[in-house]
Amino acid sequence: MNERKLYVKSYGCQMNVYDSHRMADLLAPEGYVETGAPDDADLIILNTCNIREKAAEKVYSELGRVRLLKESAAREGRRVTVAVAGCVAQAEGAEIIRRAPVVDLVVGPQSYHRLPDLLAREQRVVETEFPLGDKFNFLTLPSIAKTKSRGISAFVTVQEGCDKFCTFCVVPYTRGTEVSRPVEKILVEVANLALGGVREVTLIGQNVNAYHGEDRDGRVCTLGRLLERIAGIPGIARLRYTTSHPCDVDDDLIAVHRDLPQLAPQLHLPVQSGSDRILGLMNRRHTRADYLRIIDRLRDARPDIAFTSDFIVGFPGETEEDFVDTLSLVDEVGYSGAYSFSYSQRPGTPGATMDGQIPGDVKSERLQRLQAAITRHQAAFQARCIGLTFEVLMEKPGRRTGQLTGRSPYLQPVQVMAPAHMIGAMVPVTITGTIANSLFGTLAASPRIDAQSLATAGA
Ligand code: SAH
Ligand code: SF4
Ligand code: F3S
Repeated sequence: MNERKLYVKSYGCQMNVYDSHRMADLLAPEGYVETGAPDDADLIILNTCNIREKAAEKVYSELGRVRLLKESAAREGRRVTVAVAGCVAQAEGAEIIRRAPVVDLVVGPQSYHRLPDLLAREQRVVETEFPLGDKFNFLTLPSIAKTKSRGISAFVTVQEGCDKFCTFCVVPYTRGTEVSRPVEKILVEVANLALGGVREVTLIGQNVNAYHGEDRDGRVCTLGRLLERIAGIPGIARLRYTTSHPCDVDDDLIAVHRDLPQLAPQLHLPVQSGSDRILGLMNRRHTRADYLRIIDRLRDARPDIAFTSDFIVGFPGETEEDFVDTLSLVDEVGYSGAYSFSYSQRPGTPGATMDGQIPGDVKSERLQRLQAAITRHQAAFQARCIGLTFEVLMEKPGRRTGQLTGRSPYLQPVQVMAPAHMIGAMVPVTITGTIANSLFGTLAASPRIDAQSLATAGA
C-alpha cells in the first residue's frame, strides 16, 4: 500500500483532541501516517470548534493558508485532500465548501468513523448526519506501538453530547443528544492504553458527570462507579474527568472523591455566573447557593480539593450588580484557576436573539476585572503550594538537562531534577518555588500532603 501523509489540526476542547487521534487510528490501516507539518501532507484535516465566533472564524483563515499549500502541491503534480471535521463542520455543513472551495470533504463529529469510505469517493462530500449507530462501534483501537507514542497521560471519551441547552451554547446542536459509552468498551480502551504505558487517564465528555453507561449485565453505571472500575486497572496511577455540570454531581461522585486515592483532588466545575438572575436566563438549572453547597460537600469529602471554573461575562441582560455577584463568587470559592470569556452570540442559540445584548466595550472591561480577580486567586493558590509535598506524575524530559517535567495533582507543570527512568512514575516532590503557572521542586522521601494549608478559605 502506498504510504500517504496525514496532518490533523485540532481546535477547541479535549474531545476534539481525542477525536483527532481516533481519526488517525481509523486512517492508519488505509496507509496514512501522521506528520507534524501540513507542508508535505496528502490529507489535511482541520478538526474545528464552533463555541465562540472567534473560534469558528479561525478555521477560515487557516483554510486560506491551506489553499496556498494545495495550489503549490498541484503545481508539483501532487493532489492534496482537505477535510473539515468537528463542530464548525456540523454547524455550517455545505456552507463551508461555498465559502472555501479548497475544501473537499466536510464531516461532522458523529460521522467521522465513515472517513475511509468518504475519502474513497471522487466527488466533494458533506456528511453531517447524526447516525443512529454508535460511531464508537466502528472505531478501531490504536496499536500498542501507537499508544506508546502518546505519552503518559491520555483522554478517553466516555460520554458525548449534551441535553442541557444552556441558552448561550452551541454544543447540544453540534454534538447532539447525550450518549454514554458502555462500561466494558471503556475498560478495554483504558486497559489498552495502560499496556502502552499510559499512567493517567482523563475521562472526557461535554457533560461527563451525566454519564450513565450500561455494564455487561445491562445495569446503568454512574460516573462514580465507572471511576471505581477504572481505578482497578493495573498501571493506572491517576484519574481525572472533565467537564462536569453542577446539577449532575451526585452522591456516588462525591463518595469517590473521598474514597479513591487515584482520583486527583482537582475539579473543573463551570459555573458561568454568580448571579441567580443570569443563571436563570442562561438556563443553567441551579442557583449560586446550590453551587456553593456542592463545593462544600466536595470539600468535606476531600479537604485538599481545588476547583477551577469557566465564566461568561456580558451575557444579555447582565447588569453591573450581576457582574459584581460573579466577582464575589470568585472570592467566595477561591478558585485555583479559571477560564473566562466574553459572551459571543452564536447563531441558532436562544441567547443570540435575547434583549439586552451588552456592548463590546462593557464586556471587555468586565472581562479584565474578572481576569484580574482570577489571577489573584491563582497566584495565592500557587503560593500556598510552596513547602508542600505532592505526588507528581513524571511525564517527559524537562527544560534543562537532568530535569524532568511532571504534573502536580492540580495540573500544574512541575520541574524537578530527576533521573530519566522516573518518567511514568508518581513520585513525591516538595515544592520549592513557582513561576507563573509552573512549580519547581525537589525529590522528597515520602509524600506528606498537608490538606489544611491548601483548603481555600476564599479571599
Ligand atoms: N460542557 C461544558 C463546557 C462547554 S464549552 C459546561 O457545561 O460547562 C466551554 C466553555 O465555553 C463554557 O463553559 C463557557 O464558559 C464557554 N462558552 C460556551 N458558549 C459560549 C458563548 N456563546 N460565548 C462565550 N463563551 C461561551
Ligand atoms: Fe453547553 Fe451547557 Fe451543555 Fe455545557 S452544559 S455543553 S455549556 S449546553
Ligand atoms: Fe468546540 Fe465543539 Fe468542543 S464547539 S468546545 S469543539 S464540543
